[in-house]
This record gives sequence, C-alpha cells and structure tokens, in this order.
Amino acid sequence: MISGAQPGNSVLGNGAWIYSRPEFDQVPPSRLWTIKLLNEVIEHKDGYTIGHCQRVRHYAQILGEVLGLESERLGNLLIAGTFHDIGKVGVLARILNKRGPLDHLEWQIIYAHPMLGRELWEGTVPKLSAMARIIHQHHERWDGQGYPQGLAGDQIRPEARILSVVDAYDAMMTDRPYRRALSAGKALRELQDGIGSQFDPEATQVFIELVEGKQLRAA
Ligand SMILES: [Fe+2]
Repeated sequence: MISGAQPGNSVLGNGAWIYSRPEFDQVPPSRLWTIKLLNEVIEHKDGYTIGHCQRVRHYAQILGEVLGLESERLGNLLIAGTFHDIGKVGVLARILNKRGPLDHLEWQIIYAHPMLGRELWEGTVPKLSAMARIIHQHHERWDGQGYPQGLAGDQIRPEARILSVVDAYDAMMTDRPYRRALSAGKALRELQDGIGSQFDPEATQVFIELVEGKQLRAA
C-alpha cells in the first residue's frame, strides 16, 4: 500500500480520512468544520466535484510518490488536491453546470476561483499556508499562459504542477454538462500534446506512463 493511502473497502474510500492527517492536528475543530462545510457546498453545487476531488487526490498521491516528492510536500499535495476547487463556492451553480459555452463575464468569474480559494483557505486555516499557494496556482501553465498569475515553469510550485496534470486528466475522463468524457487514449494524447506548453514535462510523461502501465487503479 502506498504510504498514507486511505483505508477502506475501495481504492478511494469515503475520503473522510483526509481530516485525520497530522497537518490538521493544530486546526481548531470549528475551523475544520468550516472547510468541510465549504467542500460540501461545492459538492452540492457541482456534483462532478465529489468523485473528482477524491480521484485527483488519489492520482496526485501516486504521481507525487513516483516523482519522489518529499513527505511534507506530499502531504501538502494530498490536502490541496482535496480542496483545490474550494473557491468554486463563489461561482454560481448555473455557471458551473452550464451546458453551452461561457460568456466573457462567466469566464472572469471562473478565472477568479483559484484566488478566492486561496483567500478562503488562508482565512480559515492560516497555519496551512502552503496549501493556499497550491490552491492559488492549480490553473497555472508551464508556458505562463495560465491563470490567475501567469506563472511559468518552476515559478509554479511542484505540487501545483502535479495537481494541474491529474486535474486535467480526470476532468477529461469525466462527463461534463457541456461534453461527454474523452476516451483514455484521447485524454492521454491531450496530455502528451500539452507537454511543455500546458503541463510540466516530467510530471506529465511519468503520469502517462503510470496510466499506460495501469498503475492508477481508480482510473
Ligand atoms: Fe479549478
């Protein structure tokens, strides 16, 4: 079993084990309750988020370990992976679930969710500031064309670069209101095409090899 992997009958379990992570030991119960509530609000608004966050965390854990991420960063990644879209609490459900293309204003609202997520996280659990920065950076791109800051390459934290790859893969593999899920082959080709532009080359190449080697059991 991968170190720190969740117990339970399934690969993903119910996800509640994340709140037992040692990083949360110093967090007052009322604060922990608040971030649980925020995540539940997002799950209610955007049903896709429920399984998505657990799968993202699972993929990120495996990829992070294979890439040799040190334990502190791996813990940061697990928690940030779980809460990366917490800023969507500020996005209207009708935008999150819109079937057609988003208009300019709707995109501006979507673009704001990493910053809002960072602010919510810092305001609620300020001692866990490393996760706030990962949440803030999870839509940055390797080539600097991402959002909200336009960071590039190793300006982006390694945990956020890993999160970007696994988040995109799971999003492509899932039915969304505006499109059907892609096949695994097509999703992998999209990742391959994004190497060096959207995605960190090393993290992406290793992830593709893990998927092709069937080492991601929840896929
Ligand atoms: Fe996001």
